[in-house]
Amino acid sequence: MIVSDSLNVNERGNLSISGADCVELAKEYGTPLYVMSENGIRRNMQSFKNSIDEYYSGNGLVLYASKTFSCKEIYRIAKSEGLGIDVVSGGELYTALSADFPSDRIYFHGNNKTEDEIKFAIKSDVASIIVDNFEELYRVNKIAEKFNKTVKIMFRIKPGIDAHTHEFIMTGQIDSKFGFALETSEAMSAVKETLNLKNVILDGVHCHIGSQIFDEEPFMAAADVMIKFIADIKKETGIEIKKLNLGGGFGIKYVEDDKAVPFQNYMKQVSKVVEDKCREYDVAMPFVLIEPGRSIVGSEGITLYTVGSVKEIKNIRKYVAIDGGMTDNPRYALYGAVYTALIANKANENADDVVTIAGRCCESGDLIQKDTKLQKAEEGDILAVLSTGAYNYSMASNYNRLPKPAVVMVDNGISRIIVKRETYEDLIKNDI
Ligand code: LLP
Repeated sequence: MIVSDSLNVNERGNLSISGADCVELAKEYGTPLYVMSENGIRRNMQSFKNSIDEYYSGNGLVLYASKTFSCKEIYRIAKSEGLGIDVVSGGELYTALSADFPSDRIYFHGNNKTEDEIKFAIKSDVASIIVDNFEELYRVNKIAEKFNKTVKIMFRIKPGIDAHTHEFIMTGQIDSKFGFALETSEAMSAVKETLNLKNVILDGVHCHIGSQIFDEEPFMAAADVMIKFIADIKKETGIEIKKLNLGGGFGIKYVEDDKAVPFQNYMKQVSKVVEDKCREYDVAMPFVLIEPGRSIVGSEGITLYTVGSVKEIKNIRKYVAIDGGMTDNPRYALYGAVYTALIANKANENADDVVTIAGRCCESGDLIQKDTKLQKAEEGDILAVLSTGAYNYSMASNYNRLPKPAVVMVDNGISRIIVKRETYEDLIKNDI
């Protein structure tokens, strides 16, 4: 179906995910409910891993960008598939370690890590800390010195590439809060500065140009710029950069019109640039890391809601109100994100009613989708929003004191809870 092979319509005419009937899932676990396909997630992880073998002769590692969807179970799955992870906070690091994720496969990101987070990362012996700015470089060095350790670091570089995506999720251009700029030679100064610091070792360079990118060109351009930088570093300092982290950002299909390119195409094109440029600039092939997030879990998750009311404002708009909204999926409110929605119990019927799916928060902007095509909705229907596996649960909030939904994982038709539904008790547990 439209966005993922894990989705189907079963003999009852109901939407199914990895063989489980979505209407039954809604009945069993209640709504709103996040549902994810374990088969699909594992399949994606494996194909990313295989592509490193195929295009980089195994000389690389896939890091699952765990901000996309973070909970203990996803770290267990990533671990069992042999992936590494990127974390961006003490909270993600803590969650990963609680799931026994091996620290030597954890890469610590963030554009303003706190002192406590850096201590936590160093104490935990993470594989590398990706340093964003000069203050952080000195902070890491100082803390490492206190711990009497030498810490591996990478630098986050702004390669000066304009990725064609929503401006809020574009990160590679010079006017960005992330990383060191190349154009101003800030990045080279940072590299040189490491030679004066005793407790950090420069292990690699990193870039991430943005998210939900459909175009292969900016990835190829970024790879070129990064290899050139590696060559310049060698020339100017004699340091041989061993690791190149090219970030994530591969776009996925949310709606029929999305022109998503299979990620293998990016891998093929980009690896060719890396290889050619290494030859051209006379540097050794680095160990390559990539950090896909959305393209691993995005299309493998859906959200199920119950329709509460259908409000038709004659000649203006028809609102279908659901029992969730911007608290479990803020992406329409934030980015005007597009989604495909359907009525799970009417999945075979024609979707020719134009409706606006509204959440239940006290905000007019609390919409999941405006003027979208849907089967005829009625009270009690189960509405499914597709491709919500990425940046939904992880960006959920408790606005209006709404408890966060549960997350259910489905594996070959068998479902299990991986994150419990929040209770009212949970909501007040930190209130004094
Ligand atoms: N690596 C770094 C350093 C990142 O900052 C990100 C995402 C990724 C990897 C993974 O990118 P992906 O493969 O998932 O595109 N909340 C926004 C997306 C923010 C992306 C943040 N960084 C959204 O809902 O669209």
